[in-house]
Amino acid sequence: MKIMAGNSNLPLARAIAGYLELPLTDAAVRRFADEEIFVEIHENVRGEDVFIVQSTSYPANDNLMELLICIDALKRASARRITAVVPYFGYARQDRKPGPRTPISAKLVANLITEAGADRVLSVDLHAGQIQGFFDIPTDNLYAAPAMAADIQARYGDQELMVVSPDVGGVVRARALAKRLDNAPLAIVDKRRDRPGESEVMNIIGEVKGRHCILIDDIVDSGGTLCNAAQALLDNGAKSVVAYITHGVLSGAAVQKVNNSALKELVISDTILATDAAKESDRIRILSIATLIGEAVRRIADESSVSSLFD
Ligand code: R5P
Repeated sequence: MKIMAGNSNLPLARAIAGYLELPLTDAAVRRFADEEIFVEIHENVRGEDVFIVQSTSYPANDNLMELLICIDALKRASARRITAVVPYFGYARQDRKPGPRTPISAKLVANLITEAGADRVLSVDLHAGQIQGFFDIPTDNLYAAPAMAADIQARYGDQELMVVSPDVGGVVRARALAKRLDNAPLAIVDKRRDRPGESEVMNIIGEVKGRHCILIDDIVDSGGTLCNAAQALLDNGAKSVVAYITHGVLSGAAVQKVNNSALKELVISDTILATDAAKESDRIRILSIATLIGEAVRRIADESSVSSLFD
């Protein structure tokens, strides 16, 4: 087996390779003067089971193009099987038509990865599980929840916890985490705008008074959903609020928003390479899931069960 990396998240690719006690495949992924991407693999991959690690995070289009070109290079070099390891699958939120004459970009990206020559895909906490069906090749969707649950137990296990979904769409994810935390109670933040033009009202479904709340979500992007939910929980009597989010997209001024928010702590995984601002924030902590991805890669290569990682 071989592990190759694009440029989007080299520390994560190195950590995965380290777990597997393998060197990263010797390859150059670089730019021509006009920003075209060029890939050159410097070692033989003929007949190999190759895993190419590349999150399609910011800059999403450049990182996606790098992934496609790496897959093409591997295919033309006669790799036996190519697995696109895409810890953060960008464009995932465009998984349906929100209105007439709009695209389903997540499906388009899935088509591009497949057409480039990937044989399998491995991702983490896909925005919607159904995205697996956008690929006509085997797709494994890993969950950060076990790593998060272990961290929560170690740091906050002695408190009266309540798992909270920041929106109605995240209830399944929140329930799964609550189950891992000895069936902790569940609350939901329900955002409503009763009439157009009126400001959004946050209703909390569930009794959060006196509870230490754990907000869980797949993505923190602008930070709006998270920081507003944290404030609403405190306004409703919660004792404290921490957040566990798999993908720290953290665009624009999101880190600043988190730093100034009611959140005690935001824990993100390393599916996306953290910016300097995120690394420097004393409110943000990074929980590595390289071991989880590395173990899934090992099991795919060995053709053993991946799902049993989550039993
Ligand atoms: C939405 O469905 C996602 O699960 C996240 O809640 C959302 O993408 C977060 O975005 P933002 O941080 O910009 O509010």
